[in-house]
Amino acid sequence: MSNVVSCEIKGDIALVKIDNPPVNATGVAVRIGLLDAVAAAEKANAKAAIVYCAGRTFVAGGDISEFGKPPQEPHLPDVYQTIEDSSVPWIAATHGTTLGGGFELAMACDFRLAQKGTRFGLPEVNLGLVPGAAGSQRLPRLIGVEAAVELATTGQLIDAQKLYDLGGLDEVFDGDPLEAATAFAADLPTVLSPISQRTPAVVAYDYFENKRAEIVKRAKGQTSPLDNLRAIEWAATLPFKEGQPKERALHLELRDSAQSKALRHAFFSERAVSKPKAIEGGTPLEIRKITVVGGGLMGAGIGFACLNAGYDVTLIERDQAAADAGRERIEGLIAGGVKRGKISDEKAEKLKSNLIVSDDYAASADADLAIEAVFEDLSVKQQVFQSLASHMREDAILATNTSYIDPTQIFDGITNPSRFIGLHFFSPAHIMKLLEIVRLPTTSKDVLATGFDLGKRLRKVGVLSGICDGFIGNRILSAYRRQADYLLMDGCTPKQIDEAMRGFGMPMGPYELQDLTGLQISWANRKRQAPTRSPNERYVRIGDLLCEAERFGQRSQKGWYAYVEGDRKPNEDSFVTDLIEKEASEAGIERRTFTDQEIIDRLLAVMINEGALIVEEGIAERDLDVDLVKIHGYGFPRWRGGPMHYANEIGIDRVKNAIADVAAQSPNSWRLSERLK
Ligand code: NAI
Repeated sequence: MSNVVSCEIKGDIALVKIDNPPVNATGVAVRIGLLDAVAAAEKANAKAAIVYCAGRTFVAGGDISEFGKPPQEPHLPDVYQTIEDSSVPWIAATHGTTLGGGFELAMACDFRLAQKGTRFGLPEVNLGLVPGAAGSQRLPRLIGVEAAVELATTGQLIDAQKLYDLGGLDEVFDGDPLEAATAFAADLPTVLSPISQRTPAVVAYDYFENKRAEIVKRAKGQTSPLDNLRAIEWAATLPFKEGQPKERALHLELRDSAQSKALRHAFFSERAVSKPKAIEGGTPLEIRKITVVGGGLMGAGIGFACLNAGYDVTLIERDQAAADAGRERIEGLIAGGVKRGKISDEKAEKLKSNLIVSDDYAASADADLAIEAVFEDLSVKQQVFQSLASHMREDAILATNTSYIDPTQIFDGITNPSRFIGLHFFSPAHIMKLLEIVRLPTTSKDVLATGFDLGKRLRKVGVLSGICDGFIGNRILSAYRRQADYLLMDGCTPKQIDEAMRGFGMPMGPYELQDLTGLQISWANRKRQAPTRSPNERYVRIGDLLCEAERFGQRSQKGWYAYVEGDRKPNEDSFVTDLIEKEASEAGIERRTFTDQEIIDRLLAVMINEGALIVEEGIAERDLDVDLVKIHGYGFPRWRGGPMHYANEIGIDRVKNAIADVAAQSPNSWRLSERLK
C-alpha cells in the first residue's frame, strides 16, 4: 500500500484513507494507493469501502506539480473506472472543498455523503481546462445537463445542501465523515446502476446552441467555458464509453494550450505575490481600529471594505456636513450589499454601529491604522498627516491612498518613518481586487507585512510596489495612453483603438475607460508633470483640449465620445474627430490607416516595455507582480496571463519589432528596457 493511502479492513468494511497534505491531491502515489485499495477491499470480500480524507478537506484537485509533465500511469480516469467497476460498493465520505479530481472521485463511487458545509466544484475551467477524469461526463448524468453546465462552465462551487437537493448526494451529515459513513454502511441502501451507465435527461433541442451564444458573450475570448460546454454536450449525446475518452483527449490537449498556461500563470502568481522578498522576516501587527480620512468616492469604498472585513472604522472629514455625506455614502454601500443579498439585515446594523464619523481628528486617537483618501493635493495631505500624528499613537501605521504624489513628500516631517506606507486602492475600492502596497525606503518589514495581511482580510490581491510616478499600474497606464494618443495623431480614431483592444480581450478600450472614470485626474497629473517633461518628447494635447472644453467624460455627457443622457453608450463625435485631424495636420502628420493587429502590437509593446523597466528599476520585484497589477486593477484578460507573460508567449522578437516601430514613430519619447534591447 502506498504511504498516502491506507486500507484497513474493519469488520466487513474497508476503510480507505487518503492522507496527502495539504489538500489530498490526486498525485501518482494516491492513484496507485487507490488501485491497491480496490484490490484489497475485493480480496477481503468487503460489504462496502469507505473513502475519506485526513486533514482539512477531501481531495481538492489534481497534483499541480505534475502540470506541464507527461501524465504518469496509472491515469486518473482509469483509477476511477476501476472504483466504479468494483464488485464492492464504494462510499465517498467528503468534507471541506471537494473539487476537480475530488468531485470526480466522489462521482465514481456508488454513494456520496457530505459533511454539512462541504463545497463541490469543477474549477478546471478557471485553469483553461476541462475535467480529465470524466467529471464532465458523470456530472450531467448525476444532476442533469443544465446544472452541470452551470458548474463546469463557470467553475462556481456548490454547497452540499444544494447538491443534495439536485440529487447529487445521498446524505448530508453533521459530524465526523468516517463515523457518518460507517453508520450509512451499516444499513446500506440498494446499489443503483453506476453513474456512467445513466442517461442524462433530455434538454430543449436548441439548448446548447443558445448556451453557446450566451457563453461567447460572457467569456470575452476565453475558450475554456466553451470547451466545457462541448464536453457536456458529448455526455448529453454520446454513450459514456465514447464521451469519456473525448473528454480526456481534450483535457490533455488543453494542458498545452496558451490560454491554460496563461491562466495557470495567473493562478500560481496569486500564490506567490503575497510573499515578496521584501517582507521576509516581517510579522503583521494587530489592527482592530482603522481611521479613514476623506469620505469621498475612494474613502467611502475603503471604509465600507474595512467595516465589511470586521474592523471598527472612524471616518474623518473636513466638516460635519462632509462627515454626514461620508456616512451616507458608506451606508449606501451597505444598503447595496443588503439589496444584493450579500449582507444580512443583522450584519448591516452591526456594520453601521461599527462606524463613527467625525470632523475632529481626536476621534482617530485609538486607531491602529489611518488610511488617507483626501484630495490629490500635497499640502492638503501633509496637513492631514500632521493632524493624525498629533492624535494617534507613535507606532500607529499611517497610510496614503495617493495615486501619483510621492509618499515621502506626503509624510515629510512626521515622526517614526518606519510606520509609513502607501495603500493604493482602485475604484470602486470595495470591489476592485487590486491593492498596491507601496514601500517607502523607511517602511519596516512588519508594517509591510501588515499591509499584506490587511489586503488578505479585505480579500484583495496585494502587490508590492516601490515609489515612482503612478506606481506600477498607473505608470503603465500612462505609457499605454500616451502610445494610444500617438496612434490617434497618426491615423486612428478613438473608436478604432477601443474596438481593437476589446478584441484583444480588454473589457474596455482606453478612451471608453477614460470617459467612464473621468478625464480630470490624468489632466491634473499631466499638468503636474509639465515642468519636468522633456521638450523633445512627443506630446499630444488632445486630452488637455477636451478638458479645457469641459468634456470630462460620461459625467459631463461629453468626453472622447458623446453620450445621450441616461445612456452609457459611446457615440462618435465629430468635435473629437475634427480636433484630432486638426492637431495632426498642424503637426504636419500624414495620417495613415492601422490594422487592429498593429494597434494591439504597439499598445502591448509599450506596456511590456514599461513593465520591464519597472522590474529593472526594482519598483516591482518580479514580472508576476506586474502581471497581477494589470489583471486585477486594469482588466487585462486573465487568460492572456498579464503583459509580461504575454510577451514570453508571443516571443521577444515580436515585441522587439513592435517597440522598434513605436520608437521610430515617436523618437525621444521612449526609454527602452535593457531586457528588450
Ligand atoms: P473625492 O474628491 O471623491 O474625495 C475626497 C474627499 O476628501 C472629499 O470628501 C473631501 O471632503 C475630503 N477632504 C478633503 N480635504 C480633507 C481634509 N483636510 N480632511 C478630511 N477630509 C478631507 O476624491 P477621491 O476620488 O476619493 O480620491 C481621494 C484620493 O484617492 C486621491 O488622493 C486620489 O488620487 C486617490 N485615488 C483615487 C482613485 C479614483 O479612481 N478616484 C483611485 C485611487 C486613488
